[in-house]
Amino acid sequence: MSERANFGSRLGVILATAGSAVGLGNVWRFPYMAGQNGGAAFIVIYLFCVLMLGIPCMVSEFIIGRNAQANTARAYAHASGGNKFWTAVGAMGVITGFLITSYYAVISGWCLQYIYASGVGELKGDASYVKEYFNNFMTDPVLPLFWTVVFFAATHFIITRGVRGGIEKASKLLMPLLFVLLLVIVGASCMLPGAGKGIEFMLLPDFSKVDGNVCLGALGQSFYSLSIGMGCLCTYASYFSRETTLLKSAVQISLIDTLVAILAGLMIFPAAFSAGIEADAGPSLIFITLPTVFQQAFASMPFIGNIVALMFYALLALAALTSLISLHEVSTAFFHEELHIRRRWAATIVSVGCGIIGCCCSLSLGAWDGLQFFGMPLFDFFDYVTGQIFLPVGGFLTCLFIAWRMDRQVVRDQFTNWGTVSLGFYNVYLLLMKFVCPLAILAIFLHQMGVF
Ligand code: PHE
Repeated sequence: MSERANFGSRLGVILATAGSAVGLGNVWRFPYMAGQNGGAAFIVIYLFCVLMLGIPCMVSEFIIGRNAQANTARAYAHASGGNKFWTAVGAMGVITGFLITSYYAVISGWCLQYIYASGVGELKGDASYVKEYFNNFMTDPVLPLFWTVVFFAATHFIITRGVRGGIEKASKLLMPLLFVLLLVIVGASCMLPGAGKGIEFMLLPDFSKVDGNVCLGALGQSFYSLSIGMGCLCTYASYFSRETTLLKSAVQISLIDTLVAILAGLMIFPAAFSAGIEADAGPSLIFITLPTVFQQAFASMPFIGNIVALMFYALLALAALTSLISLHEVSTAFFHEELHIRRRWAATIVSVGCGIIGCCCSLSLGAWDGLQFFGMPLFDFFDYVTGQIFLPVGGFLTCLFIAWRMDRQVVRDQFTNWGTVSLGFYNVYLLLMKFVCPLAILAIFLHQMGVF
C-alpha cells in the first residue's frame, strides 16, 4: 500500500477535489436553475441542501475511499468483505463515471469552439443569429468531434502524468486562474449600467416561487455540483493521506464550490439585466443567450464584449477540464488496478473508449440523428440515465452502506482521524446518514421518475 500514489499537500487535496466539484454544474447549470426558480430564494434552499446533505454525503465517499486506498469498485468490495451486491454498487460508480466522461467532454468541446468564435468575432449578431450559429455548429458532422478529441487529448496528457505530477499540479495552476477570470468578469458585469437589478435578483429572496419542485431541484443540483454519487470523491479520497481531516476538507471544498456558483450568477445576471434579456432561458442560457448578453451589455465599448466573452468561455473550459480529469481518473484507477496494467495504458483505454462514445453522442445530435434510445438522442439519453438515475441511486446506496453496512468502528476512525479529531459532529453525521440523507435522495429520485 505504501507505494500507492497520493496528493502531496493539503492545498493539493483541496484544489484537486474542488476542481472536480467546480465544473459546468456551477457555471452553466446553477445560474439557469437559479434563474428559473426564483433567484435568491433558490440559493437559500441550495445552501441548506449543501450544508445538511451535500457535505455529509461527501464525507461518506471520502471515508469509503480513504479506508480502502483503492479504486471505487474495490473500495466497496473491501469495506463489505467482498459482498457481490456492494461490489456491483462500486462498479456502477465506475460505469457512471465512464458514461459521464464521454458526453461531458462533448459539452467541454463546445466551449473551445466558443473561445475560438469569440476570438475571431463570429458570435456577432442578434439572438436568432446566435441560435442558428449554435444549431449549425452542434449538428456539424466534424467540428464538434474535433473539439471533443482536443479536450480528451488535454485530459489524457494530464492524467498520464500521475496523481501528483498531473492532477495535483494542474489543479494548482488551473484553479487560481479560474478564480482570477471569474473575478474579472464579475467586476466587469457588476459595473454595467442597470446591473443593480441583477445583483438584487441574486441576493434578495422572494419565497413566493418556492414549491416542492424548487426544493428538489436545489437538492439535485447540490449533488451534481459537488460530484456526489458516482465514486469520483471516493477515488480522490483514496489518494488522501492519514492526516487529511475529512469533514474539514469537505466543508472547505463545498465552500469553494458554492462560492464559484454564486460568483457565476453574479457574472451572468447583472449583465443580462443590464442588456434587458431574460435570464430564465434554461440550458441554452450559456451557448445561445449569453453571447448576445455580452455583446449588448458592452455594445458601447468596442472589443470589450468580445474579450469578456472569450474570457468567459475560457473559464468554462477550465472548469470543465478539472472536472473531466476527476471523471477520467475514476475509470483510469479502475483499469490500472483491476487489469494490473500501467497507468498510461489504463488512461489510453479510457480516453479512446470514452472518445469513441463521446463522438457518437455528439453525432447523435446531428449527422446521426437516428442514434436514439427510448426516443432520445444518445447524448440526452446518457445525460438522463447518469444524472437522473445512476447518481441518485449511487448516492442513496452509499448512505445506506455507510450507515447500515460498514463497520462502525472504521467509519468512526476515519471520521475522527483515529481519535485525533473531536467526536462532536460524528453523532449528527450518523443521524443524517441513517435517515435524513437517504430519505431526501429517495424523494428527489421518485420525483424525477414522475412518481409525485
Ligand atoms: N461537479 C461537476 C460539475 O459541477 C460535475 C461532476 C459530476 C464531476 C460528477 C464529476 C463527477 O460540473
